Amino acid sequence: MEGEDLEFAVNGERFKVNSVDPSTTLLDFLRLNTPFKSVKLACGEGGCGACLVMLSKYDPDSDRVKEHSINSCLTLLCSINGCSITTSEGLGNAKNGFHPIHTRFAGFHASQCGFCTPGMCISLYSALSNAPGGLTVSEAEKSIAGNLCRCTGYRPIVDACKSFAADVDIEDLGLNSFWKKGDSREVMLKSLPPYDPKDHLVTTFPEFLKKKKSVVRNGLDHSRYRWTSPCSITELRNVLESAANSGGSLKLVVGNTGTGYYKDGEERFDGYVDISRIQEMSTIKKDEDGIEIGAAVTISDVIDALKEEEGSLFKKMAAHMEKIGNHSIRNSGSIGGNLVMAQSRKFPSDITTLLLAADASVCMLNGRKIKKVKLQEFLDWPPVLDSKRVLLKVDVPAWAADNELLFETYRAAPRSFGNALPYVNAAFLARVSHQMVDKCLLAFGSYGGDHSIRAREVERFLTGKLLSHSVLHEAMVLLRGVIVPGKDTSYPEYRKALAVGFLFEFFYPLIDNDGRRLCSPDSGEKHSNGHVHRTESLLPFLSSSQQVLESNEFQPVGEAVIKAGAALQASGEAVFVDDIPTLPDCLHGAFIYSTEPLAKIKSISFSENVTPTGVFAVLTFKDIPQQGENIGSKTVFGPGPLFADELARCAGQRIALVVADTQKHADRAAKLAVVEYDVKNLEEPILTVEDAVKRSSFFDVHPMFYPEPVGDVLEGMKEADRKILLAEFRLGSQYFFYMEPQTALALPDEDNCVKVFSSSQAPEYVHSVIATCLGIPEHNVRVITRRVGGGFGGKAIKSMPVATACALAAHKLNRPVKMYLNRKTDMIMAGGRHPMKVTYNVGFRSDGKLTALELTMLIDAGTEPDVSPILPRNIMGPLRKYDWGALSFDVKVCKTNLPSRTAMRAPGEVQGSYIAEAIIENVASSLQMEADEVRKINLHSYGSLVKFYKHISGEEDEYTLPLLWDKLEISSEFEKRGEMVKEFNRRNVWRKRGISRVPIVHQVMQRPTPGRVSILSDGSVVVEVGGIEIGQGLWTKVKQMVAYGLGLTKCTGSDELIERIRVVQADTLGLIQGGFTAGSTTSESSCEAVRLCCVTLVERLKVTMDQMMMEKSGSVTWSMLIQQAYAQSVNLSASALYTPEFSSMEYLNYGVGVSEVEVDVITGKTEILRSDIIYDCGKSLNPAVDLGQIEGAFVQGIGFFMMEEYTTDEKGLVVQQGTWDYKIPTVDTIPKQFYVEILNTGHHKNRVLSSKASGEPPLLLAASVHCATRSAIREARKQSLSWNCNNGNGDVSGADFELPVPATMPVVKGLCGLYSVEKYLEGKICGK
Ligand SMILES: Cc1cc2nc3c(=O)[nH]c(=O)nc-3n(C[C@H](O)[C@H](O)[C@H](O)COP(=O)(O)OP(=O)(O)OC[C@H]3O[C@@H](n4cnc5c(N)ncnc54)[C@H](O)[C@@H]3O)c2cc1C
Ligand code: FES
Ligand code: FES
Repeated sequence: MEGEDLEFAVNGERFKVNSVDPSTTLLDFLRLNTPFKSVKLACGEGGCGACLVMLSKYDPDSDRVKEHSINSCLTLLCSINGCSITTSEGLGNAKNGFHPIHTRFAGFHASQCGFCTPGMCISLYSALSNAPGGLTVSEAEKSIAGNLCRCTGYRPIVDACKSFAADVDIEDLGLNSFWKKGDSREVMLKSLPPYDPKDHLVTTFPEFLKKKKSVVRNGLDHSRYRWTSPCSITELRNVLESAANSGGSLKLVVGNTGTGYYKDGEERFDGYVDISRIQEMSTIKKDEDGIEIGAAVTISDVIDALKEEEGSLFKKMAAHMEKIGNHSIRNSGSIGGNLVMAQSRKFPSDITTLLLAADASVCMLNGRKIKKVKLQEFLDWPPVLDSKRVLLKVDVPAWAADNELLFETYRAAPRSFGNALPYVNAAFLARVSHQMVDKCLLAFGSYGGDHSIRAREVERFLTGKLLSHSVLHEAMVLLRGVIVPGKDTSYPEYRKALAVGFLFEFFYPLIDNDGRRLCSPDSGEKHSNGHVHRTESLLPFLSSSQQVLESNEFQPVGEAVIKAGAALQASGEAVFVDDIPTLPDCLHGAFIYSTEPLAKIKSISFSENVTPTGVFAVLTFKDIPQQGENIGSKTVFGPGPLFADELARCAGQRIALVVADTQKHADRAAKLAVVEYDVKNLEEPILTVEDAVKRSSFFDVHPMFYPEPVGDVLEGMKEADRKILLAEFRLGSQYFFYMEPQTALALPDEDNCVKVFSSSQAPEYVHSVIATCLGIPEHNVRVITRRVGGGFGGKAIKSMPVATACALAAHKLNRPVKMYLNRKTDMIMAGGRHPMKVTYNVGFRSDGKLTALELTMLIDAGTEPDVSPILPRNIMGPLRKYDWGALSFDVKVCKTNLPSRTAMRAPGEVQGSYIAEAIIENVASSLQMEADEVRKINLHSYGSLVKFYKHISGEEDEYTLPLLWDKLEISSEFEKRGEMVKEFNRRNVWRKRGISRVPIVHQVMQRPTPGRVSILSDGSVVVEVGGIEIGQGLWTKVKQMVAYGLGLTKCTGSDELIERIRVVQADTLGLIQGGFTAGSTTSESSCEAVRLCCVTLVERLKVTMDQMMMEKSGSVTWSMLIQQAYAQSVNLSASALYTPEFSSMEYLNYGVGVSEVEVDVITGKTEILRSDIIYDCGKSLNPAVDLGQIEGAFVQGIGFFMMEEYTTDEKGLVVQQGTWDYKIPTVDTIPKQFYVEILNTGHHKNRVLSSKASGEPPLLLAASVHCATRSAIREARKQSLSWNCNNGNGDVSGADFELPVPATMPVVKGLCGLYSVEKYLEGKICGK
């Protein structure tokens, strides 16, 4: 029988697809075949939430529609047959009116670059639509757990979400544009864009779909779709049997979320079998014997069902499952899919661990037979993934709930709720009466073994034993032997320590008691020994406050105006490069990169010598036109090649570009490329800075970028009565993780011209590189950049080769060529922040006064100079924030065979500022003084500031750091909290707190920047600037400045001018000399450029204005004035190139941060309890925008200092290749309390309308989190030493230690002691 057509709705519009490759995802379809572009591709692995959409399914029996969010990047198109999809622009849009979610996101300043925003909006919408009784504040916060945003730092997003919560206290919501400080609650409530579920939670399930058969069963025509949807086990059996007979390969699917993790081999199946519509596999049955869960039931439905059950076992399982992936993954991922991935492909599953501890069984279909086996036996079978065997259901037995039955689950992951696989998980069930263990099931998973296991040896040992310190200690020793991570598992010792720690946490509270727990695990109560039990079942409430001073001196400059285009970004209509509609003959490119660090390239071919589907060409350096050059980037330090020539100089270097008909084909072909290398007669590659020193492999640094030493270090050392000599530490790298990967689109044009759309922070340079590469005059090239989906420095130099490669291919093939790097390639090529090794000698007096610092720094710059030669200058700037007495340094910029590093937000500055703190911390440790005291003693006086910063130190009254330092001491209650931290540490064994205050001095420099303001005949204004909108709010500030500047005409109603101004995309032929958008000053420089234009225009308009004023006696509107000026042919377009005065182009920015953290000594997890920031923004041009920059930068800094590992392997290839192993902060890792004050420090005569920069400096303040963590670890180590029975050394050596950057969980735990629980018990045993 002929089956159905694939039919569904998107935003109410009907779509029919005649035939399709069944591996096509919903995202592919939406982006390529519909006008709806709000679904963004940022990772393609379920890890970011940028691609979320609402899926609505209609149930004809109940006549109800069920809806939830799903990841369109993982969902297969065929699986949505008969469904309705709603994207963010489907909720509301510019044409039909925005949804209140969009307008509230805009008004709470919750969108910066906007790339994550549509996905965020869908997450919130999904939460609202699934909370019929209204959303609680906690649910509102949780709704975006797992969605990534790299710009905002999440706080404003959380406020936007919370504004929809039924129980919200409106006064708790942060800075927004709806009400003013001091407004009454009534005014606040009235000003919020109204939201009424009846109007705004409209389920758009079109009538035409309700009539479709596939609403019940997805009966697609197999010949056209290779997709089958059996409705019963019998039908499924038939499908499998006929495939077995014909020898065809089949893939069973439910949510298809597994492909987020296993991305290989999607096209090798002859057919797909969707098992989600099989009744028996999609239901949950409950009776007194337990729960039977169909294998195709989604994790979300399992959670709901478990929550309804009596007894804490099921509830605890549900709470644990809520930490799996994120909402949308749980909404589509099935329990069976999870178990099969764990069984057959070693997936580090949480669910298997939980089910093992609950003694669950599974039912398997094998041919005609159905077999029920214990889960453990199923896991031990050879892989079942053969499309012959099907997991039908899971049986979880009911455990009689009584006081003696204990059940707990554990999970240690880099982010508790935010989409992170655990290092280890565990679930324990035990029956313990009067300290006697009658029975126990101890399950561990995710530790790097083949799958979750039961620790049977330990179970046997404990069963029948009376719990005591020594019994528990022995059990732990046994457990260390059972937890054996596989050979390639990262942090094996850490994982063992976690497993042991969890066992300790479970059993320890039972010792010395009558068999019942000393404290309820849910209460968070403290054990009499100071043992606090972990409680993580709810995301804790975030609280925040922002203090900003709006100024009206230069209205509307200084006001917290909503970011230009924020609502458009929320609805997803804002156009990024990849959203530009694809032309019919457009080709797509993907890079082939070297996997060797130094090798001759002998040949490039494809696997089995078969050219993969869709490939048009493979371009290498040989394809560069004769008159052109092999150039892919350039800086003042020289060019970088587009492709490796005969020699590849680092793993990750571009060696060719595959051009194919689709991006998917190009990516696949690049993956299938086979490169033959030859390393004969070549030197060993340089892969470390030490190698570079041995081989004297350095980049030259111009004296301009090499600051002078200060004072006489030899003398300073003589003055010292204490010294630390040859101390050493290293700093790691960081990846930008802009949400929009590198992308460009090149269109060949007439007469040897090319037009390129590039997501770049430096279009002018992109332009010039393309012209040089192609060997054509620059006027043949036009580069256009409208907006960039996050840059952070990564879209400056590193955007150039992407655009140039596209231009080369377009030029050569005479076809449009687009390239959208996949996240893996992007991460491999990006280079990121500079890692470095620091060695120092510091001299100081016993009262804490520093006298001299001598530094040696080896910076790993990678293979090309990029901008690395500026690093010495950038590092030494913020490092001078303290009065070191005297300062000398030797900084080497090492040339290695690693991807070239580039400028990432606060490049060198964040390291320099941190290096100063690390030294201060060590000085304080060695003097046994408080680090804060040492900081305070060595803060600059204005006199020493001038000595260290010379002409850039500004006027004395501009040195506001001491003021900020003191102010924050009071507002953060620093001293009182310091005492509380000490008290907490005295009373708690397994949790330690630390608090730290860190100052920053950050030097920035303005650069020449162009602008043009043109007034059109209707009075609307169009503005062009050199600066690029990368999410930092540049356009908004520019608009405000133009409104202010033109407002000086003093027309009637000129306060509404801002509404008539539009800033347009950068076009390198329209406005030249755009330069780089970098270094935090482009916004102010662009503002100054347009202010100059406005001065010219106002001057030109003055004559007309004066005439009209005389004629009209006082009332001239803007429109009238412009009409008249047009009539008089006044030149109404003015341009200017703002060139800052040499004497004042550099200036200093100041801020102070206090952070308090709590370290879990058992897991190494660091929670940021509170951060307070005070930052001097001068007279902020827009406090909302600056606040966003401050918070966003701080959270990005938290990522650098605490979470983000960006490392290379033994060949120099980047190890982290996606969201699975690169963890940027999510909403659950930001400070629980986050208080920010922007200080308006009044008049700064050399600054643009007295404003100061905000983009990068606040990132440096995140060092306060790292320093507070160091302080907490110090407490843990001191305590650990006190447990030594024989005062032996054990695994911790004392209070002097270096805390690496990033201080990830394994690092922190390693320093707290991998054997801390054993030591503790040994201490107890020997009576300590
Ligand atoms: C971003 C992300 C984060 C995640 N985080 C976690 C986490 O923290 N903890 C955790 O435990 N899991 C996590 N997961 C895994 C997630 O739970 C699984 O991907 C999901 O449960 C798989 O279900 P599915 O229906 O999508 O399976 P599919 O992708 O449809 O199938 C997965 C595989 O199993 C096969 N299969 C599916 N069902 C059956 C069956 N009944 N019988 C035989 N074979 C079958 C399929 O052929 C396929 O090979 C995460 C996944 C993603 C994408
Ligand atoms: S693109 Fe789908 S989750 Fe990241
Ligand atoms: S606004 Fe969230 S990623 Fe840019």
